[in-house]
Amino acid sequence: MFKALILNQQDKNTTAEIQQINESQLPENEVLIDVDYSSLNYKDGLAITGKGRIVREFPMVPGIDLAGRVIESKDARYQAGDNVVLTGWGVGESHWGGMAEKASLKADWLVPQPAGMSSKQAMMIGTAGLTAMLCVQALVDAGVTPESGEILVTGASGGVGSTAVTLLAQLGYQVVAVTGRVDQNSELLTQLGASRIIAREELQEPARALEKQLWAGAIDTVGSKILAKVLAQMDYNGAVAACGLAGGFDLPTTVMPFILRGVKLLGIDSVSCAYDKRVQAWNRLVEILPVSFYDQACREITLEQTPEYADAITNGQVTGRIVIKL
Ligand SMILES: NC(=O)c1ccc[n+]([C@@H]2O[C@H](COP(=O)([O-])OP(=O)(O)OC[C@H]3O[C@@H](n4cnc5c(N)ncnc54)[C@H](OP(=O)(O)O)[C@@H]3O)[C@@H](O)[C@H]2O)c1
Repeated sequence: MFKALILNQQDKNTTAEIQQINESQLPENEVLIDVDYSSLNYKDGLAITGKGRIVREFPMVPGIDLAGRVIESKDARYQAGDNVVLTGWGVGESHWGGMAEKASLKADWLVPQPAGMSSKQAMMIGTAGLTAMLCVQALVDAGVTPESGEILVTGASGGVGSTAVTLLAQLGYQVVAVTGRVDQNSELLTQLGASRIIAREELQEPARALEKQLWAGAIDTVGSKILAKVLAQMDYNGAVAACGLAGGFDLPTTVMPFILRGVKLLGIDSVSCAYDKRVQAWNRLVEILPVSFYDQACREITLEQTPEYADAITNGQVTGRIVIKL
């Protein structure tokens, strides 16, 4: 028997309960994994609280991320004892996920744990960190260099935002962090490498079609009015990597930034990102993230504490990354 967080639905409300289950209850897949750590992302928060329609079939084990060791594998690419990482592919949404001591997964969904990285560090990065890396790479590919000018990061104290601030600063970019919690998080954001902090309210006024050009690049985790404001303030030929909707999924903008300033809006998806691109991003994360990142921006919790933190993350009350020890 082993421990799992199980989501169920009663009268359209989602319930989350820790249960003892056995291997025969796991879905049948190619690789059985002993899970060391999972992590808590915004999407997990929405799934566990039922605040977002993430899970469609119940019972469900949540957890869009996990890291652990292969117990047995029917696929030649993995052998017992291999350390692996899983992010995305609908795991924790449509397939049983990482918030259990064991998981049964398709080999195609896994990547080998990068050399020099522990399961705990892999989960301190998780989907949020992978997404931050994909955003940074998209800006680099769009020609944004450290000499181009300042880079804006919105939702900066969240999981994606805090990792993006760290990665950009390590690569030599001047990073401006936008946060709704200036008093609480300025010190951390400065330690991670932000050169300036801006209060979220400054970007919440409705955007004019075009505003003063301020940013060479931007990583947006928030969407809605704030992304519209960022687009209106981009430099000529600037690029915005958009990955999130923490402030809403609408986008009240105009075509003006695109047709008069050549601004590029780059969509980022980590869930179905191709294998080679994932492996490359994980290897870059190991190279770029300083050891101090793991101490400064991450906290460990138990499976029992997860529902409480799931509520907090959906209320914008979590800072940095949360890992769950199994
Ligand atoms: N495209 C992908 O593949 C992908 C992958 C991972 C995540 N995401 C999305 O990216 C977003 C961030 O994910 P995460 O895991 O980093 O979440 P998170 O840790 O909760 O961070 C989100 C941050 O956004 C800010 N925020 C919260 N509510 C807001 C509001 N109403 N208006 C403006 N800002 C608000 C907060 O930062 P401050 O307090 O500093 O303002 C919060 O910490 C989510 O929408 C998530 O679904 C997408």
